[in-house]
Amino acid sequence: MIILPPRLIKKVYSLPETTLDIHATQSETIQTRWTVWDKEVADNDFQINVVRHQITRNLETLTPLMADELKRGFDRWWGGEDDAREWKEVKVWDACLKLIAGASNGAFCGAPLCEFKEIRLQESDLFSSDPSLGYVDALRDEASSVFAKAGGSWTRDAVRDLKLIDSTIRESMRLNPFAIVGLPRTVVHPEGIKLPVSGVHVAKGTMIAVPMEPIHYDESIYPQARKFNAFRFADPSNITNIVDNFTAKDELEAEKADATEKKAKSTATLDDAFLGFGFGRHACPGRFFALNEMKIFIAHMLLNYDVEHMAIRPRPLDTVWLKLPLHGGKIRVRRRTSVI
Ligand code: HEM
Repeated sequence: MIILPPRLIKKVYSLPETTLDIHATQSETIQTRWTVWDKEVADNDFQINVVRHQITRNLETLTPLMADELKRGFDRWWGGEDDAREWKEVKVWDACLKLIAGASNGAFCGAPLCEFKEIRLQESDLFSSDPSLGYVDALRDEASSVFAKAGGSWTRDAVRDLKLIDSTIRESMRLNPFAIVGLPRTVVHPEGIKLPVSGVHVAKGTMIAVPMEPIHYDESIYPQARKFNAFRFADPSNITNIVDNFTAKDELEAEKADATEKKAKSTATLDDAFLGFGFGRHACPGRFFALNEMKIFIAHMLLNYDVEHMAIRPRPLDTVWLKLPLHGGKIRVRRRTSVI
């Protein structure tokens, strides 16, 4: 496997599928023959088009349905309005699995598993952060004012206004990439490819990938990169990207428009310094849906529950190049009395 230098990601990941294969490579890395029960589902790309063309477009309709289901799930598994206000231990993985599966099914049939992991990680980061930083209170204030302004129900527009929660999710995904290296592709062009700048020839059949964790932990892109700074992405002056940091001067000139524009980035914004949703032509088309659901999940949780502070954040399990959340994690939660 060849790990690409970060400054080549943008160019190489825009190559067409006739040059760089994703789907056969993914089938091989996740062994779909054994892990997906139906060959048609494993081999036919129809779901990608459904996600790309239907789901994001219909988020306005899907959001209230998803929010209703989430509320029902939380009431059932974490304690409802009429339940005693007592601390209750919940297994994070199980709780997220049930809640997210229910909410996604509320919106459409079939919940993608990748979301459970992200929410687990965000909870761990948020509730193990130093309480004196005040992240939980600030996020709760945001959730409360946005929810009140929306008249007490979640809409697509209200969810968009949850800017601090969005930044917290992006920061958690940055600090906890799902893999050390990721986005594997195989060179399928008979003549191989010639990498820009160095001119290195990569032969047909070679697998390439990106150094996801080293990029996410790069101090020149993210000052104090090992620290969980929940509002890092809410502050546009903090935003740099790979174009700023790795690109040669002449290329930088050509990218000037991009490089000088500093805007707070939503978690759904793709850039080559944040690879949580992939990059280039095969970046995750479900990210708007996933982000919408994660934001409602966190807002609802903050408004309705206390979560006990964790002295130590559970570490993920390194498995080959993947970083998996540990299955045994537990947290203590308690229904709150006042909502807004
Ligand atoms: C937090 C949740 C999610 C994360 C972190 C995530 C992450 C990713 C990443 C990193 C990729 C790119 C893989 C690569 O380039 O090798 C991807 C692709 C994809 N994701 Fe997601 N995803 C999430 C949720 C979803 C949801 C909810 C859906 C569907 C509703 C979805 C559907 C897809 C599809 C269809 C692709 C393949 C796109 C293509 O090959 O062109 N994802 N996802």
